[in-house]
Order: sequence, then structure tokens, then C-alpha cells
Amino acid sequence: MGRTFFVGGNWKCNGTREEVKKIVSTLNAGEVPSQDVVEVVVSPPYVFLSLVKGLLRPEFHIAAQNCWVKKGGAFTGEVSAEMLVNLGIPWVILGHSERRLILNESNDACICPLIPYIFSFQFVGDKVVYALSQGLKVIACVGETLEQRESGSTMEVVAAQTKAIAERVSNWANVVLAYEPVWAIGTGKVATPAQAQEPNTERDCKEGIFVDLVEINYIEGQVACYVTQPIEKLGTLGSVQVYLDIGLSHLSLEKGGDMPSHVVHFELRKWLQANTSPEVAATTRIIYGGSVSGANCKELAAQPDVDGFLVGGASLKPEFIDIIKSAE
Ligand code: G3P
Repeated sequence: MGRTFFVGGNWKCNGTREEVKKIVSTLNAGEVPSQDVVEVVVSPPYVFLSLVKGLLRPEFHIAAQNCWVKKGGAFTGEVSAEMLVNLGIPWVILGHSERRLILNESNDACICPLIPYIFSFQFVGDKVVYALSQGLKVIACVGETLEQRESGSTMEVVAAQTKAIAERVSNWANVVLAYEPVWAIGTGKVATPAQAQEPNTERDCKEGIFVDLVEINYIEGQVACYVTQPIEKLGTLGSVQVYLDIGLSHLSLEKGGDMPSHVVHFELRKWLQANTSPEVAATTRIIYGGSVSGANCKELAAQPDVDGFLVGGASLKPEFIDIIKSAE
């Protein structure tokens, strides 16, 4: 499906006027593929939005890193969607894990009458719906923590976060879904290509055995796959031991094994297919975020269900141009 590759640069809480001007001049000088190959959106802190907007090359776009959940007013310190539109800022990042986990904005699947709305799971969903209603385009972030992954609840968490957004979005053309495993953000640990995408081609397993997986599906705790050669032990997918029964063609995850994160992009698209529409599933970009760098971007970009990146630390460096070029 021809989804235009999407590369977002989340500058987070970084920069001075001088540093921002330097980053923008590097971006303006970079040789990159055309807009029909890759869509580039950079996200400076609020205080530099106008400065960057005035200096950035016209084919690159700008996002705010957040916005308030409703029309502006007596909400000290907040920035409303209307203000961003008025400033000519077309994109906004919402639901970033640093806001969910550090600032307690949450759309995790937990709701309790005692937990104020802002901590309830639909808060991020409401933000997405309101931002879209004001004409903004949204990079909506989902992703599990290491504890959730190791407890085997990755897809349950990511599906609940996506549901909180999806159940009220009507215009998916203005939504990009960013899967950012929290344990990979800023840690240097990057979900390997096999961890971000369904392994349906040759995989490098623990013992260095190469297996040509003809087909693999993750069905309620079973990973059924059809391989061209019986392998006694496939090694470890993420932190999961999988075994191939000699002579059979099925892998079975050890009971209690966590959801292999390598199927997340694939499973998210399947979730969209089942819960929105085949057209939304086919056209919505699902991008990956979490320690993406100039060194690992090519391999990740080659995965069929990885439609781009949301880059943090590396977006402040010249290697961001290499990451943009990984769309080629
Ligand atoms: O929003 C992008 C982000 O959270 C990833 O950060 O530094 O791991 O690329 P980083």
C-alpha cells in the first residue's frame, strides 16, 4: 500500500535560539527525497514554534509537542489547539509517553471514579478528537512500559490506548499513529526490526540459525508459523523462548511469555482493520519511535508495516538527514 513515509523530529524540551537556528540551517541544507517520498515534520518546544516556522524550508512542516484538551480559557500554562491553528502550526503530537508517565496524562486502560479525569484513560483520546476538530493533524502516541511488556500485556495495553483514540476519530487522514515502546525511548535500546515487525522472512535467531518463515500469525498466545526447515529451538524473540516441535510447523510461546514486541506494528494494523475499516488500516501510517538513529533506521524502514519514525535525540543532530533519507 503506498503510504508516504513519515519522519517526525521531536525536539522535546531542548534548545536555545542559537541552537535552534543551527539545527534549522542543517535541515535546510540537507539533501532529502521529495515530499511525495517522505513527509517531514519537526516539533520544537512551544517557545520556538514561530522562529522555526519562519526559517524552515517550505517542504518541511511543524508540530507542537502537545495542546490542551478543549477551547482555551482559564487553564494557566496551557496552549490551545486554536492558538496553534492561529499560528499556522499544522501538526501536534499527543499522548507522548513522557506526558503520560511523567506528567500523568494517561490513556491507559484503567479508570476509577476516584481518579480525576486528567488521569483517566480517555483524556488523550479527547485531546486527539478536539485537536482534529480544530483542523490540526495529529501524531498520536501509544506504547507499553517494560513492565507491561514483560508481563505479556503489550498488545492489550497498546490496543486499549489506540481504542481510546480510535473510538471517536472519524477523519483518519489527519492521524499518524506512533508506536513508541517506552523501554526504547532515550535508552539506546531499539526494538530490533524483528521486534517492530512481523518476522515473515529470514530471521536471525539466538543460535544464529536462519529460518525462512513462510508465514507467521500470533493467535492468543500461539505463534503459528510454517517454516522450510524444522529447528529444535528458535531462540528468543524479545524475551520470549519459542520452540518449534520437531516435525510439526507450530511455534508455541511458553505460558506466561510476554507478547513478542516484534508483532506490534503488524498487530496494530490488524487491530485497525478489525476496529475501524480495511481502508483506514491500509492507509494509516504507523511509525516507530524509540532510539532511532542514522545507524539503525535503514533496517527498521525496510519493515513493511513501519511507515516512518518519530525521532527524539537524533532529530537534534545532522544524522536526522540520514534518517529522512532512509525513506528511499
Ligand atoms: O517522540 C520520540 C521519542 O520519544 C523517541 O526518543 O530519543 O529515543 O529517539 P529517542
